[in-house]
Amino acid sequence: MSKVDVVIGCFYGDEGKGKVIDYLATNADIAVRATGGDNAGHTIEANGVKYAMRLIPSGILSGHTIGVIGNGVVMNPQVLLGEIENLKAHGYDIDNHLKISDKTHVILPYHPMLDRALEKARKASKIGTTCRGIGPTYCDKYERAGLRVEDLYADNFKSHLEELVESRKALLKFYDPEDTTIDEKLNFEDVYKTYCEYAEQLKPYVCDTVTYLHKALEEDKRVIVEGAQATLLDIDFGSYPYVTSSNPTIGGIITGTGLSASDIGNVYGIIKAYSSRVGEGPFVTELLDETGDRIRDLGHEYGTVSGRPRRCGWLDLVTLKYAKRLNGLTGISVNHLDTIGKFDKIKVCVAYDHNGVETEDFSTNLKFLENCKPVYKEFDGNFGDLSGCKTFEDLPENAKAYINFIEEYTKTPVKFIGTGAGREAMIVRL
Ligand code: GDP
Ligand code: IMO
Ligand code: MG
Repeated sequence: MSKVDVVIGCFYGDEGKGKVIDYLATNADIAVRATGGDNAGHTIEANGVKYAMRLIPSGILSGHTIGVIGNGVVMNPQVLLGEIENLKAHGYDIDNHLKISDKTHVILPYHPMLDRALEKARKASKIGTTCRGIGPTYCDKYERAGLRVEDLYADNFKSHLEELVESRKALLKFYDPEDTTIDEKLNFEDVYKTYCEYAEQLKPYVCDTVTYLHKALEEDKRVIVEGAQATLLDIDFGSYPYVTSSNPTIGGIITGTGLSASDIGNVYGIIKAYSSRVGEGPFVTELLDETGDRIRDLGHEYGTVSGRPRRCGWLDLVTLKYAKRLNGLTGISVNHLDTIGKFDKIKVCVAYDHNGVETEDFSTNLKFLENCKPVYKEFDGNFGDLSGCKTFEDLPENAKAYINFIEEYTKTPVKFIGTGAGREAMIVRL
């Protein structure tokens, strides 16, 4: 039986997971999303078109790979239908290449409203969520009050939905008493009509994806999983509360798909040659100076969907070691080598100085992180134009030294090196 290759973000998201999945999909029959929702934005530049994938797995862009939205995802039907329409307009045969788990939780109109109201209520301690309703939808899931895709087709759908809408209206009024538009925005008959239409349009894609995936593996089909978000945004292992509401780490890949631990083969951890973060929360190597601004400009570090400027800093290997331990990484992808290579000198964080004591062990304790200063090792930059580099040997010596050091420090091979945003701008060492 073939093994499943997994792609996981190692830092705070936006490491270039979509691009690596796009490459792996050339050789994959099925690509699965396991966690998160349309808070993700995975950019792929293919055939002169830039795609910002939010819910549909990026692997579908190969043209032959079937995309599966797993049970662990929270799905906004409006966003998904928009994405389907866009891909169809670009010539993709989505009807034969998309499956949605009957167990996927559905985002309802009050979820983004609650997300915004909760952020407002948090005042100084806000998280900086994407306001797409991700947290409130997972809250409903764990409260056992969520609506799953299969519930859209149940006999009691109307009464189920009505109960949910009315109770959440009350909750919204509690959190945001000044909002006078709640009744109008959540008019039950309107919501019901809209979701009946969504249900009809999505019906052809819905199936038991757990059985589908296991049968595919038994038939020796090649399956890959596209992680969303990242290790430091994990609800358990990230910088809580500045995290998302799911487990983007390896455990979430399993519970979010129904695959078993022994089905997993390679686990590829994705990093950029520097670090970035959107939203609030600790970031030890953050550069609040012109160097940080320069990384942002050179790397075009603005949100794929929101356009929010990303916070930028040097690469943090202490964090990467933590991500390796948690996810059992078998390989690393270093993206944006072209971007970091534009600097004369490049710094890499190799330890944290915690009140005078050096450590290479990461902790998500906020007080600990607040008191950590990065200990840097400096490398020579000026890599020059990397567009002609098709193999590791083609890279300039300074770039090779940088990659070799990441491998030595993490004791993990670097399997992919990104040398540009385009699909073909990647060195593969499999
Ligand atoms: P994801 O969420 O992990 O899939 O990453 P995003 O798509 O949000 O952000 C990664 C950004 O970096 C996108 O704009 C990509 O097009 C771009 N990118 C990925 N790899 C490289 C690379 O090696 N070099 C350059 N210059 N851009 C890259
Ligand atoms: P991809 O898959 C970067 C961040 C948000 C916020 C926090 C909580 O593209 O790497 P949420 O809306 O999930 O409740 O927000 O998590 N966040 C991401 N940051 N990339 C992502 O996805 C993210 N998904 C969530 O910015 O700080
Ligand atoms: Mg992204």
